[in-house]
Amino acid sequence: MTTGSPSTTSGDSVVRAASVDVTLNGIPIVRGATLDIAKGEVVAILGNNGSGKTTLMRALMGLIPHHGEIEVFGTPLARFRDWVRIGYVPQRGSILVQQATAREVVASGRLGHRRFFLPESAADRRAIADALAEVGLADKATYPFVRLSGGQQQRILIARALATGADLMAWDEPLAGVDHKTQELLAGVATRLKSKGTTIVMVLHELGCFRNLIDRTIVLADGRVMPPGYNHHDHEHPHAGHRDVHGGHEVDETERPRTHRTGLEVG
Ligand SMILES: Nc1ncnc2c1ncn2[C@@H]1O[C@H](COP(=O)(O)OP(=O)(O)OP(=O)(O)O)[C@@H](O)[C@H]1O
Ligand SMILES: [Mg+2]
Repeated sequence: MTTGSPSTTSGDSVVRAASVDVTLNGIPIVRGATLDIAKGEVVAILGNNGSGKTTLMRALMGLIPHHGEIEVFGTPLARFRDWVRIGYVPQRGSILVQQATAREVVASGRLGHRRFFLPESAADRRAIADALAEVGLADKATYPFVRLSGGQQQRILIARALATGADLMAWDEPLAGVDHKTQELLAGVATRLKSKGTTIVMVLHELGCFRNLIDRTIVLADGRVMPPGYNHHDHEHPHAGHRDVHGGHEVDETERPRTHRTGLEVG
């Protein structure tokens, strides 16, 4: 594993950002972020609480406005339309799903494959069933999503990303609050995805059971991408992180997202 610069040329770039700034409620949160993630790479984004990992991820997904350049699959974000190619799993706690069953959450990942208002195809049903089985929750299909445990909800969101057949996975803290067995299950899912060439970008606190899978880490500190070799654990101090007493995503944003890419995310 290496840190810092991408291991391949920009010809097969899947996510590219150049000098990206994100300002929320007048506060600069991501500052001058430049990164390049190549096809098939598994990249971990690391950093202390409040360092801007989620904000950067949301900007890369086109969920919040940014300044600077972002390209996804070689297309400038403003022109990118192929959202089914991305399996975005937001950080836990940022999901707004009141009534949906587990299966409905997974099925929502297939919407891009269908024309609006058409019923599910056999391929949709197979993809949904396979994804539920892959995360070991086929038996929970009809459960209300909110009644599942936190770790089960996390697996359902991963299943949703799998059901899209995405070739870029963007997972924000997939291991947060899930037990060891589930972590290993998710590492198995990621291993299988990697072996078929899927690009994976994950925000992580610890590399944990993903350690052997990760090709490269990108470390954020105070909204900036750190140079290769930087270890954020060496720079932790008790008051680091939250620049804002409200903390995180609960704050009402004055800048609204232009669109909701997942349909599940809280703006
Ligand atoms: N809408 C907003 N308005 C103002 N500040 C915000 C807003 N959203 C997030 N922030 C601030 O931006 C900073 C970075 O938040 P972000 O959620 O990106 O961090 P993170 O690295 O993902 O943290 P964690 O590890 O806790 O998930 C935090 O200080 C947070 O309080
Ligand atoms: Mg976060």
